[in-house]
Amino acid sequence: MPRLSFAVGATTLEIDRGDITYEATDAIVNAANTGLRGGGGVDGAIHRAGGPTIMASCRKIGRCPTGQAVITTAGKLKTRWVIHAVGPIYAGLRNDALELASAYRSSLERAIEVGARSVAFPSISTGAYGYPIRDAIQVAINAVSEFVKTHPEALDLVRFVLFSDADYSVYFAEFTCRGAERD
Ligand code: APR
Repeated sequence: MPRLSFAVGATTLEIDRGDITYEATDAIVNAANTGLRGGGGVDGAIHRAGGPTIMASCRKIGRCPTGQAVITTAGKLKTRWVIHAVGPIYAGLRNDALELASAYRSSLERAIEVGARSVAFPSISTGAYGYPIRDAIQVAINAVSEFVKTHPEALDLVRFVLFSDADYSVYFAEFTCRGAERD
């Protein structure tokens, strides 16, 4: 699958098809729940691959409200940091988009607080939490683009890592519409 990217100021926004637990960006984002207690999907994969120190850090933090994100170290993963973001459980209400945008923004705030310059995101809320991916993409790309515009020079790379061919295709089409090119 080809990687596609476009620039927003000094930051590259990129898509890639794959498993986020293999990412070597400075930080990766987890699609967590408010109790930070682990689960299935990408959350389960990150805790399995990273080992128990990530859960130990999550227990110390306790909880994270919907639309917010907290950061821990990354155990055995290649990345240095795991940012645990809590997206909304899709309800079909206007608030869903506000909370999803906030989860992306808050993740990037945590990243720059620790000096991370590259961040990989999964598609937050579009698995168990039921957010339609076509709507979620608009929210995700707009939130990230606005953040990097208001924090110029803070981040080199934001990568969206899509686990399934179907999700990748939807992102591919949207990135193409926004003028992205092959790396
Ligand atoms: N790498 C990248 N993406 C992945 C991976 C992976 N290893 N595994 C799954 N995904 C993708 C899914 O295909 C989906 O598109 O992550 C996206 C988000 O799906 P979920 O993991 O179900 O996350 P979400 O919808 O935000 O639901 C969060 O699920 O696992 C629980 O504890 C988690 O309660 C929380 C809820």
